Amino acid sequence: MDADYLAAMALPDLGSLGARPFWFGGVEFRLAPLGGLRSGALVVVKPLEEVERYQELLERFDAPRIVEMGIAYGGSVALFSLMAQPERLVAIELNAEREPVLDEFIAEHRLGDRVHLHYGTDQADTVRLAAIVDAEFDGAPLDLVIDDASHLYDETLASFEALFPRLRPGGEYVIEDWSCDHGIRALLAAGLADPDHPTHAWAAATLAGEGRSRHAGQTAQTEIAAATLGGPTTSRRPLTRLALQLVLASAEPDSGVAHVETGPYWTKVTRDQAPLAAGTWRLADTAPDHFGQLA
Ligand SMILES: C[S@@+](CC[C@H](N)C(=O)[O-])C[C@H]1O[C@@H](n2cnc3c(N)ncnc32)[C@H](O)[C@@H]1O
Repeated sequence: MDADYLAAMALPDLGSLGARPFWFGGVEFRLAPLGGLRSGALVVVKPLEEVERYQELLERFDAPRIVEMGIAYGGSVALFSLMAQPERLVAIELNAEREPVLDEFIAEHRLGDRVHLHYGTDQADTVRLAAIVDAEFDGAPLDLVIDDASHLYDETLASFEALFPRLRPGGEYVIEDWSCDHGIRALLAAGLADPDHPTHAWAAATLAGEGRSRHAGQTAQTEIAAATLGGPTTSRRPLTRLALQLVLASAEPDSGVAHVETGPYWTKVTRDQAPLAAGTWRLADTAPDHFGQLA
C-alpha cells in the first residue's frame, strides 16, 4: 500500500500504527506494515513475521541475482541487500521520485555496484522491464523475483509473464499481498456497516468515488465498496485470480510452474526445467482452464 492510499484511509496516526524498530547487520530499520509517511528512517512495509520469512528464504541463496518491484520508502531494498548479499539486486518503482534515505544507505554500504534502482518504471511496461533486466544481468538467469508493487491483477500478470521465463530452474517468484483485494473488501464492508468504525470515513469516500488517494486501484475499490452493499460485482479481476491460475499451471506437466505455495504474506512460485520463450510466454496458454473454474 502506498502512503497516499493509506492517508486516504484517514486513520489516525497511521505513520506509527503497528510500526516497530528492527535491527539487522547493525542497521536500524522501521517495520511499518501499514506503511508510514517518510520519516528519514529505512521504512519496510512489512510485519516482523514476514521479514523473518524473507530472512529464511534469502538465506537459501548464494549471492543471488534478484529483481524486486516496489521500492516505496526503500527499506526492503536495503534490508534484502544485507540479508541476501546479492550478486546484484535490481529494483524498480513506478514513482519517479528517488528515496534519499535509500541512496544514502547504498552509498554508506558501498553497494552502488550491486544494487541498482530504476525509478519511474511501471511493472506493466514489459518491454522496458525486459530491457532493464537483460541489460542488468547480461542475459544470466534470475534466482529470485519479489513483486511487492501494484498488487493489481493485470500489472502483476504482465511482469510475471515477462520475468518468470527469465528465472533459472529452481528459481523462485514471490507475489506479495496476493489476497489484498479480500482484505480491502473486508475493511470497506466493516467501514460501511458501522459509522463508528475507524475505516468509515475512508469507506464512505471510496464508495462515493472521492478521497485523496491516487492509488491505481481506486476505481476498483469504489466498485468493491458498491459490491459490499449488494451492487454489481467489481469488473476488475482480483489478484487472487493469478494465484488460482498458478495452481492450475502447477497441475500441467512441463508448464514452467513446478510448485506454488500460497499463504500469509505471499504466493511463491518455483520454476521448473521447461524452457519458456521470454517475451511470448503466456500463463493462460500454460494453464488452460479446462473446467471453467476461473470464469
Ligand atoms: C507496498 S509498496 C512496496 C513496499 C516495499 N517493498 C517494502 O516492503 O518496504 C508498493 C510500491 O509499489 C509501487 N507501485 C505501484 N504500482 C506500481 C507499478 N505499476 N509498477 C511499479 N511500482 C508500482 C508504489 O509506488 C509503492 O511504492
